[in-house]
Amino acid sequence: MRVPVSFVGLRVSVVDNVSFDAILAALKAAAEETRLRILYLLARGEFSVSDLTDILGQSQPRISRHLRLLCEAGLVERRREGAWAFFRLAGGGGLPAPLRALVDALPQDDALLARDLERLAQVREERARAAGAWFARIAPEWDQLRSLHAPEAAVEQAIRDLVGPAPVRALLDLGAGTGRMLQLLAPQAQRLVGVDASPAMLQVARANLERAGVTRAELRQGDINALDVERGAFDLVVVHQVLHFLDDPGRALREAASALAPGGRLLAVDFATHEHEFLRTGHQHRRLGFDDAQMAAWFTAAGLEPRQSVRLPTDGPDAAKAGCAGSGGDGLTVVLWLARDPRVITDWSPDGQNSGVA
Ligand SMILES: C[S@@+](CC[C@H](N)C(=O)[O-])C[C@H]1O[C@@H](n2cnc3c(N)ncnc32)[C@H](O)[C@@H]1O
Repeated sequence: MRVPVSFVGLRVSVVDNVSFDAILAALKAAAEETRLRILYLLARGEFSVSDLTDILGQSQPRISRHLRLLCEAGLVERRREGAWAFFRLAGGGGLPAPLRALVDALPQDDALLARDLERLAQVREERARAAGAWFARIAPEWDQLRSLHAPEAAVEQAIRDLVGPAPVRALLDLGAGTGRMLQLLAPQAQRLVGVDASPAMLQVARANLERAGVTRAELRQGDINALDVERGAFDLVVVHQVLHFLDDPGRALREAASALAPGGRLLAVDFATHEHEFLRTGHQHRRLGFDDAQMAAWFTAAGLEPRQSVRLPTDGPDAAKAGCAGSGGDGLTVVLWLARDPRVITDWSPDGQNSGVA
């Protein structure tokens, strides 16, 4: 593998509070082809062992051993989630500065790394295709499934309470599905945009919104990991029961944050952490819920201020079996997490016009 000349300059990087020994250990741990490739991939998101096995084309024991060494050197963090474990760069990407610079400086046009990125895109595409087929199959029944098994009314009331009664200028619903969130918030939103990857879901959403008399919603097919909407334009972005389907929810939250106008709010609604492995095998879930610390870390990494979280009580066991939105028994709990874009809107601007950003 070709090492970029710019690495020579790394000796001048002074590292805050990292000892010589720690840097040496970090460099030693990274100084192996597969481990450097793993660091390169983890700089692009969180991955499970099986993701890395698929991308790097190596056996699970080998990948696990490399990951263990990287974890022991403090470069990578492991988070257990049911039967899976997810790996990410330690401390929110906070590798010792020389190593971070090295990983960032690795040449994208290197044949091996380019192939890893290509394979990463393929793996993501295969997963998206499988999820898309599943959503196409369940689209006609989604509303029925949800209303049968979830305390929908309680979740929706909690959303209304958290959002509050003030008018919303522009609402963006990510993973809009059958359009329920757009319908719920339509009375107070001037502009409504829904994005979803599944044409089948969007087709049901169109019919639902038309039936509900919501005629001004713009529905767009798209990937919420790579949003094709105006940046900085929405004062409320909602991601309702979508994040657990994603490989890398933090990435989608960064995209969501980039769509927020100054002072705008992001509302993520999903399950609290749980142990229902069957939701992975039978319902395309990738993540078994989230905890407050994880969500706060993603919000912060996206440049947002975590504001509030609201937990909703569980009920009957059928909900967990159904794997539907809302909350259910067997420990499935719904949580609403609210964050805010910290930029302040003022009514003063130097050119004398209203509305500046402080
Ligand atoms: C469980 S449904 C929830 C729909 C809606 N938010 C609701 O609560 O009724 C999840 C939705 O997320 C969409 N989705 C999953 N991954 C996506 C992605 N990467 N980009 C856009 N939409 C996605 C699916 O197509 C599906 O419609």
